[in-house]
Amino acid sequence: MVKTHQFDAIIVGAGGAGLMAALYASKGGANVAVVSKLYPTRSHTGTAQGGIGAALGNLEEDNPLWHAYDTVKGGDYLADQNAAKVLAEEAIDAVIELEHMGLPFDRTPEGKISQRRFGGHTSNFGDKPVRRACHAADRTGHMILQTLYQQCIKHHVKFFDEYQVVDAIMNNGACAGVVAMQLGTGELTVFHGKATLFATGGWGKIWSVTSNAHSLTGDGAAVVYRRGVPMQDMEFFQFHPTGIYKLGILITEGVRGEGGVLINGKGERFMEKYAPRIKDLASRDVVSRAIYMEISSGNGAGKNKDYVYLDVTPKTVNRYFAEAGDERRITAEDVEKKLPDILEFCRVYLGVDPVKDPMPIQPTAHYAMGGIPTNVNAEAVLDEHWTVIPGLYAAGEVACVSCHGANRLGTNSLVDLVVFGRRGGKNIADYVKRADFVPLPPAPEREIEAELNRIRNGKGKTRPHELRSAMQKEMMQNVGVFREEKGLNGALEVVRELRERFSKDLTIDDKGSTFNTDLMEAWELGCLLDLAEATALAALKRTESRGAHSREDYKERDDANWMVHSLVTRHGSELSPSTAPALTINVNKKVDMSLAEVDPRFAPKVRTY
Ligand code: FUM
Repeated sequence: MVKTHQFDAIIVGAGGAGLMAALYASKGGANVAVVSKLYPTRSHTGTAQGGIGAALGNLEEDNPLWHAYDTVKGGDYLADQNAAKVLAEEAIDAVIELEHMGLPFDRTPEGKISQRRFGGHTSNFGDKPVRRACHAADRTGHMILQTLYQQCIKHHVKFFDEYQVVDAIMNNGACAGVVAMQLGTGELTVFHGKATLFATGGWGKIWSVTSNAHSLTGDGAAVVYRRGVPMQDMEFFQFHPTGIYKLGILITEGVRGEGGVLINGKGERFMEKYAPRIKDLASRDVVSRAIYMEISSGNGAGKNKDYVYLDVTPKTVNRYFAEAGDERRITAEDVEKKLPDILEFCRVYLGVDPVKDPMPIQPTAHYAMGGIPTNVNAEAVLDEHWTVIPGLYAAGEVACVSCHGANRLGTNSLVDLVVFGRRGGKNIADYVKRADFVPLPPAPEREIEAELNRIRNGKGKTRPHELRSAMQKEMMQNVGVFREEKGLNGALEVVRELRERFSKDLTIDDKGSTFNTDLMEAWELGCLLDLAEATALAALKRTESRGAHSREDYKERDDANWMVHSLVTRHGSELSPSTAPALTINVNKKVDMSLAEVDPRFAPKVRTY
């Protein structure tokens, strides 16, 4: 009999969305447990750099409707417009609430929260870039995480740190909690809850060049996917334009917000060609494609001409400011003060000092727009009829609400965390007052225990790292910034073959129970392979180009046929990847166009920046 804990609410993941949900559920009277494979303040929210968007208008006029418009346009019109509106409107109050909790935002000389420019954020429906990103140097996510963790401690949230969730417990179509492994002992524990919210982040480790931490292996999405919950819009995975060359570590868009420019191997500011009006501050999909186009036309830098530069040296920035009639000027001291972390990364990892020299960069796999389908209250939904799955919630990157549509704007992930995490927490507090516990099925840990034992005792010849590298290389090559049918079919075949080897030919060294990272990394690889398969399949089926999904063989956006979300469903609950490859795609979940219906400015049109 495994140990069982019972709580009103189980929150899986301790990043911004999880902590905000836990805080609000707890404030609302629920008895809350946060179950996290990491120590909470090591969660990936802590790496978010440049800012959190909110139309505060502290430095120039701004309006939440403009923020909603930019979000919808940036998402290439696939965003559910009601969700984009909630995001933009509630961002304002959420940021002020964080400030009141003690978050040390940078300040204007008058003492207001300081704001900077970010890609795709404009005033007056696309007129000109606007300062909307509220920032704490280039450590905004870190500060959010610390602030929310302190608040959760203050409000008596119970933390189960270093417990890795390995299965979702479903009974009769409702969620009854999760099974987790205590990493220090290897013991399985059941968490029985009335409401379970997944806030486990993304799965960037599917690709070889990524800004994501090692922990971003899609566990939360994979465990519910294996239990019959569909994955929405998996084809849309964002490549952030500026990752450190080869390493993928994020160089914040805040660099360009402060005036930094992209320069090709010939010394040209190439974004002038691709986005004549807002240039380097176009949306991320546009900038990432532009970088690849420069590289493929021989304009890359370096021996292999396979990267470009991001230049924030005061000499260059001030020259472009002067040419544009922009009265701003920056000094080396400004760069040191506003962007300390990225300077450190470049100095340590590249031996390049960005105050004196440009940084070599390339696009890096960054953010999942898709995930567990939810409504605006963070309730998970099962199908195109918005059927709520009782007891199951999701918020943050693992969820697809879908406020970001086909491409997220920078700063909107932090807004998403706090806005929809808070909505989830409030909704859970209310739900647990009226709901009963769904009974646990007999021995809910049995299937996952068998799967973990299979991995631990595998007598095959293949090491997990071999499969991981092969998957990452294939996904980078054929399911990256540009895609086409032949490559996608090939990627699907490769991923399926790797899954077969994962289930039949695996071996690991550590057979023990104490902090068996060998076992857990192998299990995480299974999650990545499942999500890679769903991603490649959804990308193959969507025969158009939209946002972050750019098909070389279907170059145009096709609103007549594809103004719909995709759902990939895996049938059956078997945990062994080899026995559950059945996937279907269902593309009839319509986009909610409510704003477009009342305000014609939100109607889909060709995007120009
Ligand atoms: O560029 C950045 O600072 C990243 C922010 C984001 O992904 O929202």
